[in-house]
Amino acid sequence: MCGIVGYIGNKEKKNLIISGLKELEYRGYDSSGLAVMDKNSKDINHFKAVGKLSNLEEKTKNFNSYGFGVAIGHTRWATHGKPTEINAHPHIGKYSFVTHNGIIENYKEIKQILEKKGVKFISQTDTEVIVHLFENFYEDTKDVFKAFEATISNLVGSFAILLITKKAPDKIFFAKNSVPLIVAKSSSGEIIFSSSDAPIIGLADDGVYLDDMTYGVASFNEINFFQNAKTINPAIKNLPKDKNYAQKEGFRFFMEKEIYEQSTIITETLMGRVKENEIYFEELDDDVFKNIDEIIMCACGTSYHAALAASYLFERISKIRAKVEIASEFRYKNSFLNKNSLFIVISQSGETADTLEALKIAKNAGLKTLAICNVDNSSIVRLAKNVILTRAGIEKGVASTKAFATQVLTLWMVVLKLAKYKKVISNNELENEIKALLNIPKAVSIKDGLQDKIYRISKHYLYGHGFFFIGRDIFYPLALEGALKLKEISYLHAEGYASGEMKHGPIALVDERLFTIALLPKTTLYDKTKSNVEEIVARDGFVLAISPDEFDLADDFIKISTHDHPMCEFFEMMVILQIFALEISIRLGNDVDMPRNLAKSVTVE
Ligand code: M6R
Repeated sequence: MCGIVGYIGNKEKKNLIISGLKELEYRGYDSSGLAVMDKNSKDINHFKAVGKLSNLEEKTKNFNSYGFGVAIGHTRWATHGKPTEINAHPHIGKYSFVTHNGIIENYKEIKQILEKKGVKFISQTDTEVIVHLFENFYEDTKDVFKAFEATISNLVGSFAILLITKKAPDKIFFAKNSVPLIVAKSSSGEIIFSSSDAPIIGLADDGVYLDDMTYGVASFNEINFFQNAKTINPAIKNLPKDKNYAQKEGFRFFMEKEIYEQSTIITETLMGRVKENEIYFEELDDDVFKNIDEIIMCACGTSYHAALAASYLFERISKIRAKVEIASEFRYKNSFLNKNSLFIVISQSGETADTLEALKIAKNAGLKTLAICNVDNSSIVRLAKNVILTRAGIEKGVASTKAFATQVLTLWMVVLKLAKYKKVISNNELENEIKALLNIPKAVSIKDGLQDKIYRISKHYLYGHGFFFIGRDIFYPLALEGALKLKEISYLHAEGYASGEMKHGPIALVDERLFTIALLPKTTLYDKTKSNVEEIVARDGFVLAISPDEFDLADDFIKISTHDHPMCEFFEMMVILQIFALEISIRLGNDVDMPRNLAKSVTVE
């Protein structure tokens, strides 16, 4: 999704803005731009480029901005209008420039009113109305702040906005609703804005994560915050200090590095949470389970698959009804909500618009809420009553890997905690579960020769007419996730199916150019799944079987270790599916970390 950076101070501004935007690249974007204003001359230089930030760097290579001034920059992920230079931010008025993340829902109405007053629009974006509306109010009031305040109060939708104007050449006006915006002041008084903390690390030690409907104005060494026309003093929080996460550490892609670090990451997710055969969540009050007779999980994409896997565990181990909702569907479903349900949202970024809205609905309906999230201080974390952080560290690859692993692991721990709370698990069973939990760092560590083997077989899968990933029970959501991973980064058509569903329609597609990736765990319904795979083999389908047991009928076979717990098989297969998608994508020459059309953080619905 779009990224925003802003700066007030003496540093060279072009480089600072571009390097800040680079930290936000992982969010996904298709064009970028920046504007720099010199306080004394009031000149505003602006540049825009389609495609990668290197194109913006090329366009600005002869431009420098030393001395005091203000600057704003933006990476755009197109929502209204194509990714063109005209549609890229900043958007321009007669004397003001604006960058915006989010969607202005009432932009058409505003545009019509302004057009009637003679304002000319040049872009197809919703954002452009902001700058013209601001200038329109300024012409009426001749008061810059009042004009900005009036502008914000007329906007409906989601926004993080930075606006600069020649009418106040040392200031940045800002506003935030539903999409993230952070502002920080350095020890020497510089002001830095950003959509996430990464660009600010190293420039300031702490900052303000703005709450919804906060707006204000910043100048050197001073930030004034407002809500509903009243001054507020928001809480200042420490920013993280470590910037080294951004390194690929010798791997070709962030996704590859993130697959390899899962063993360490999972150890961190477990740390302090498994003690003397019990699950502890320091952050969780046991009250969260009081009178609960149903679990509703709600999420999007990969996080939805984690929820789906957990639903089997909740029902089986915690003996509780567990429903899973796709957040974008849940939002408009007017679900009948029961106050005895625990509403769990799962999100890597904590900023996914649909999941955030679903959480608001559940909260307003009086349900207890729990967020399983990877990003502290994110919008979802701040809104949920209870939070468990997954501790996956920053995930840069757009295709989620380690975040999924930690989500499933965390949900599994919640399942065990609830089972214990409800006294529906014996000490022996809990001991076995915990033994399996502690075995997961080993299950996800990549065995010698595995990646090489997958690299070699991956060449068989480049030119078919599609993929089915199939599995049963918890291996069905894993099949869905395997298919999603592959399609995200290879652009090949892949679907996940419950093995038993194949004969209800999809088997019609099977021929020698249809690839089936069969998940054949030994612990769970092995014979049933095997029969489903045999039905595919009988129709000359091309099969890759993943199992601890040799499977002679398969065209390709990847052996996993023998485990006595399904979750150990689940995690070992998960890694294989991730590497399988990675190797196919690399062979196809795709941008593994920033696949086309995708954004890391989906902050619009
Ligand atoms: O940040 P979230 O977990 O809320 O994101 C949800 C989905 O957008 C995300 O999982 C998406 O499907 C990933 N690209 C999957 O790799």
